[in-house]
Amino acid sequence: MSCIVDARGLRFSYEPGREVLCGVDFHLHRGESVALFGRNGSGKTTFLLHLNGVLRGEGALRVCDLPVEPKHLPLIRRKIGFLFQDPEDQLFRPTVLEDVAFGPLRAGLPRAEAELRARRALAAVGIEEGLDRAPYHLSSGEKQRVALAGILAVEPEVLILDEPTTHLDPPARRALLELLRTLPQAKLIATHDAAFARALCPRAVFFEHGRIVADGPCTEIIRRFGWDLESPPETSPAPR
Ligand SMILES: Nc1ncnc2c1ncn2[C@@H]1O[C@H](COP(=O)(O)OP(=O)(O)OP(=O)(O)O)[C@@H](O)[C@H]1O
Ligand SMILES: [Mg+2]
Repeated sequence: MSCIVDARGLRFSYEPGREVLCGVDFHLHRGESVALFGRNGSGKTTFLLHLNGVLRGEGALRVCDLPVEPKHLPLIRRKIGFLFQDPEDQLFRPTVLEDVAFGPLRAGLPRAEAELRARRALAAVGIEEGLDRAPYHLSSGEKQRVALAGILAVEPEVLILDEPTTHLDPPARRALLELLRTLPQAKLIATHDAAFARALCPRAVFFEHGRIVADGPCTEIIRRFGWDLESPPETSPAPR
């Protein structure tokens, strides 16, 4: 299987002397769905932001067979669909429809085709009305869905989703799960939602202090680290 994300020895600091990524090795193969678990502040978002070149650290990083370097960023960003942890960072056009059509337009599609793709992507995330609304007037969950539609509309090769269920109600979470299951792309999903991850991702990795400390079957990782409400971590001391 060919590698769609190939990271070796990634290191990064926001400020001198405080490393946030301390040598991350990670591989994502075509068609794979992998969950990224880890405590708040363990470095998940920082790692993901390297994949689309928003952050640049030391080490070797290839995405879709291209080194993540400034000259390749426009192509890499067309190939990966990146859902930011905060959908506010992603929505900037005056209407919902224009926002979602922006990606296909930028990729060179004629306006009619771009709008068709945008409507299709919006329908896929359950938004079929009110496409002339301003994105900043939407609820958080609606913003998250519009941001996801914007990604789907460009038909990327890989989906990088940073906490995609944070703002979603249970039916919207279920609908997202069903939608993602039908999509053939490789997926890398940072989430604290163990049930969502278990239902979607056969494999998971666990981040701790800027390193991947475990990589294996999702159910095993959840059990080992106590990553759901029911099970305490296997490594925790027994209660006194
Ligand atoms: N722009 C920034 N400047 C300085 N430090 C930052 C910045 N962004 C993140 N950090 C720090 O880097 C560390 C890792 O943050 P990151 O957002 O990658 O964590 P995370 O694993 O995604 O957490 P969460 O589960 O809360 O989303 C944290 O200690 C955070 O405070
Ligand atoms: Mg994060």
